[in-house]
Amino acid sequence: MTIIVTGGAGFIGSNFIFHMLKRYPDYRIVCLDKLTYAGNLSTLESVMDNPNFRFVRADICDSEAVNALFEEEKPDVIVNFAAESHVDRSIEDPTVFLQTNIMGTAVLLNACLKYGIKRYHQVSTDEVYGDLPLDRPELLFTETTPLHTSSPYSSSKASADLLVLAYHRTYGLPVTISRCSNNYGPYHFPEKLIPLMIANALNDKPLPVYGEGKNVRDWLYVEDHCKAIDLIIHKGRVGEVYNVGGHNEKQNIEIVKMICAYLGKPESLITYVTDRKGHDLRYAIDPTKINEELGWLPETRFEDGIKKTIDWYLNNREWWESIISGEYKSYYEKMYGNR
Ligand code: NAD
Ligand code: DAU
Repeated sequence: MTIIVTGGAGFIGSNFIFHMLKRYPDYRIVCLDKLTYAGNLSTLESVMDNPNFRFVRADICDSEAVNALFEEEKPDVIVNFAAESHVDRSIEDPTVFLQTNIMGTAVLLNACLKYGIKRYHQVSTDEVYGDLPLDRPELLFTETTPLHTSSPYSSSKASADLLVLAYHRTYGLPVTISRCSNNYGPYHFPEKLIPLMIANALNDKPLPVYGEGKNVRDWLYVEDHCKAIDLIIHKGRVGEVYNVGGHNEKQNIEIVKMICAYLGKPESLITYVTDRKGHDLRYAIDPTKINEELGWLPETRFEDGIKKTIDWYLNNREWWESIISGEYKSYYEKMYGNR
C-alpha cells in the first residue's frame, strides 16, 4: 500500500505520518509538502532515513508536479492535509487560502481521476458548520448540520468539501471526508492558541486572549485524530463524511489559566486584546457516527493530553524557539503589536 500524505510537514500531517509508519511497517508513505511558513522539515527528521518514507517538496496547486508524483508512485490512497490553516491569517489575506485550499484540492482530485486510486481522503474541519451559541449546550454539529461558514479559512475548507463530494457523485471517485474539532499536541505551530500561550508563558510574555476569552472550542489530542483518519481510510464508507471530536469543550480562558497553573506562571500575564473579526463563539462535535460505525473513541483525556503537550514544549524548546525567532517574528509584531 502506498499513501501520499500532503501537508505532512505540518502539525497534524506529521503526527499522522509517525502514526502510520509505526502502525503499518509494510506501507510506503510519501509526503508531499510545499514547506510554507507552517511546514517544517526538522519535524520529519526522525523518519527521513526510514526506507518506507519519502519526502517530496511540491505545491498541491502545481498539477505537473502532482501528476508526475502520481505517475511515479502509483498511490493507492491520498490523504490531503495540505492547507493554509490559520483563521487570523485568512482574515488578513484570503487569497492564498482560496488558492491552496480550493484549487489545490481540485488539482489532487483531478490527478486521482486521471491515475485511479482506491481512496481520496479530505481532512476537513468542524469550522465548516459555522458556530453555535454559548447558551445552548445541548446543540452539537452532526454530519447533516448545514454548512454555514464565518471566515475566509472556513469558507475555503467548505468549498473544498463540496468539490470532493461533487467528484464522488459526478465521477464516482472513492472519497471520504473527516471534519475534526480543534487539535492540540506536539509540533503545533506557535501561532495557534495552545502553543502560543505555552511559548509566551515560558518567556514571561503577555498572554493575548481575544475578547473576553469566553469562546468555546472542542479539543482533541492529535493522536486521536490520526487514529480516526486511519480507521476511515481503511473502513469508512465511500462518499461519507465523519465528524471527529471528543466532547471536550473548554472556554479559551480556562485553557490559558490551566497552562499558567501547570507552568507556575502568574495569571497577571493574561492580557485581554481586541477580538478576532467574525469570531466563532462555540464549536462542538457530535462523534456518534464514527463511534457507532467504526468503533472510534478518543483515548486521551484533556487533563493528560495538555500536560503531555506542555511537557513536549518544555523538552523541545529548540523546535519552537527557532520558529519564533525567524520569519514568524514579524507576523507576531503585525498581529499583536498594536492590538
Ligand atoms: P499546518 O498549518 O500545521 O500544516 C499545513 C501543512 O500544509 C504545512 O506543512 C504546509 O507547508 C503545507 N502546505 C500548505 N500549503 C501547501 C501547498 N500549496 N502545497 C503543499 N503543501 C502545502 O496545519 P494543521 O493544523 O496540521 O492542519 C492540517 C489539516 O487539518 C488542514 O487541512 C486543516 O484545515 C485541518 N484541520 C486542522 C485542525 C487543527 O486543529 N489544527 C482541526 C481540524 C482540521
Ligand atoms: O476547529 C478546528 C480548527 O481549529 C481548524 O480548522 C483550524 O485550522 C485551527 O487553526 C483551529 O482554529 P481556531 O481558530 O479555533 O484556532 P486558534 O488556535 O487560532 O484559536 C483558538 C481560540 O483561541 C479561538 O477562539 C481564538 C482564540 N485565540 C487565539 C489566538 C491565536 C486567542 O484568544 N488568542 C490568540 O492569540
